[in-house]
Amino acid sequence: MRSEWQIFAVATVLALTIAACGGSETPAQNASVKPPSKASIKRAYTMKCSLCHGSDGRLMASKAPDLSQSTLDLESRIALITYGKGTMPPQKGVLDAATIRGIAEYIETFRELK
Ligand code: HEC
Repeated sequence: MRSEWQIFAVATVLALTIAACGGSETPAQNASVKPPSKASIKRAYTMKCSLCHGSDGRLMASKAPDLSQSTLDLESRIALITYGKGTMPPQKGVLDAATIRGIAEYIETFRELK
């Protein structure tokens, strides 16, 4: 009788522990790992980049190059967007790294628009 009660107690503690862990870990992980949404990347591009590059990358205002003709690789685009170049303003401290990477990936879609 006694040992059955012990097994029940251990099982109950285990179940509670597992439930507690699952409940506390999931929201924290989502907050730190979740990448910016497509919509928020597009919004950031519209606010920070379309002034010179236009919504399709081809505006070429303020001597901005046509992004649909750009051949820069992803890492170079991330560096250029982060640190700026010439009259292009740096985004370091303005946009977070994940959004900068997202924009660098997003503007590559302009290349198919030819
Ligand atoms: C004030 C106008 C301006 C804004 C705003 C601007 N750019 Fe630029 N961008 C430029 C200019 C000018 C260059 C050319 C820099 C140079 O080579 O001297 C450039 C170059 C680039 C290039 C390199 C293209 C190539 O192949 O040489 C990329 C990619 C780019 N911009 C993306 C962006 C993104 C993404 C944003 C928004 C975060 C942005 N730009 C905001 C003016 C701007």
